[in-house]
Amino acid sequence: KLPPLIDPYQRRITYLRVSVTDRCDFRCQYCMAEAMTFLPRADLLSLEELDRLCSAFVRRGLRRLRLTGGEPLVRRGLMDLVRSLSRHLHTGDLDEITLTTNGSQLARFAAELAAAGVRRVNVSLDTLDADDFRAITRRGTLAPVLDGIEAARAAGLAVKINTVALRGVNEHQFLPLVDWAHGKGMDITFIETMPLGDIDGDRTDHYLPLAEVRRSLARRYAMTESEYRTGGPARYVRVAETGRRIGFITPLSHNFCESCNRVRLTCTGTLYMCLGQEDAADLRAVLRGGASDADLLAAIDAAIARKPKGHDFIIDRRGAPPALARHMSTTGG
Ligand code: GTP
Ligand code: 5AD
Ligand code: SF4
Repeated sequence: KLPPLIDPYQRRITYLRVSVTDRCDFRCQYCMAEAMTFLPRADLLSLEELDRLCSAFVRRGLRRLRLTGGEPLVRRGLMDLVRSLSRHLHTGDLDEITLTTNGSQLARFAAELAAAGVRRVNVSLDTLDADDFRAITRRGTLAPVLDGIEAARAAGLAVKINTVALRGVNEHQFLPLVDWAHGKGMDITFIETMPLGDIDGDRTDHYLPLAEVRRSLARRYAMTESEYRTGGPARYVRVAETGRRIGFITPLSHNFCESCNRVRLTCTGTLYMCLGQEDAADLRAVLRGGASDADLLAAIDAAIARKPKGHDFIIDRRGAPPALARHMSTTGG
């Protein structure tokens, strides 16, 4: 039995986020440029390599796995990977496999996901207005996403909604989104926009500190602080009127790095110890260099030993470049 995986700041690392592809069928304004170029396919880890790396992390003591992207469900063969990884659920070596998805393909995959042992999914949804939805995602359509959410619920998956809060873009949708989500028994989390990757505009104009969102929601709902935590960065309140929760993810206005429990693997096998720092470990090179399982575990330990204290995101000046060139879709949120 290996000792727990502890970083230099005494944080226990139990959670791995994996971007299975940088591709996406949407081009959300805050995430990508309209003319986004994706990585050559040869750079991507194969499904077998993803399985081997994820399994090495599980052996090294990680308890939770979240598959993200890009849009994870556009990766061909993803369900084979999920089914294969679910063996770790059956042996009790892994607590959960979850997915963060834009929902566009969820109707097709919900039942398979549930059958493979996935119990909850997070669906990104920034508005309930079909025209706004098209404008924000540039090429998405709202109806299939709503169908996907219904299919997921029908398959028994718990759905949490993620909404990026954007000043002047979807502010007027926050109340309708909360009413709608809570009306269906789903929690919803608001997220501050983070300066990752070039987009066709300036995030400065759209940055909305969540304290403001909370104040405006408080005019409508009675909210009390909740102790509920998922091990993620969200802080939750409970809404008296609906009995459901609203989460707030505030990387800019109030960072949560001191309780960080996670690392992230990109679709090319680069391990980022922090979403907001460039230091990374090239696990694909280790893998393709013919590493043994022991070598892989040693590479993971060496990487965790370098996990930085935290990010230093700010969105300060109009026209300033993003803090990091790499996109959220490559890094896996
Ligand atoms: P659960 O709590 O497990 O439901 O998941 P989550 O809310 O942590 O995950 P999700 O994939 O839904 O992430 C929501 C948003 O939080 C995404 O935009 C992520 O980029 C952001 N996020 C998740 N983890 C971190 C983190 O460690 N640092 C920062 N800055 N943002 C994060
Ligand atoms: N800042 C904040 N959230 C972002 N997402 C994508 N790009 C950004 C960004 N720059 C969100 C998506 C999705 C999650 C994976 O990350 O909306 O909910
Ligand atoms: Fe795709 Fe998600 Fe980025 Fe939107 S936020 S473009 S759905 S990866």
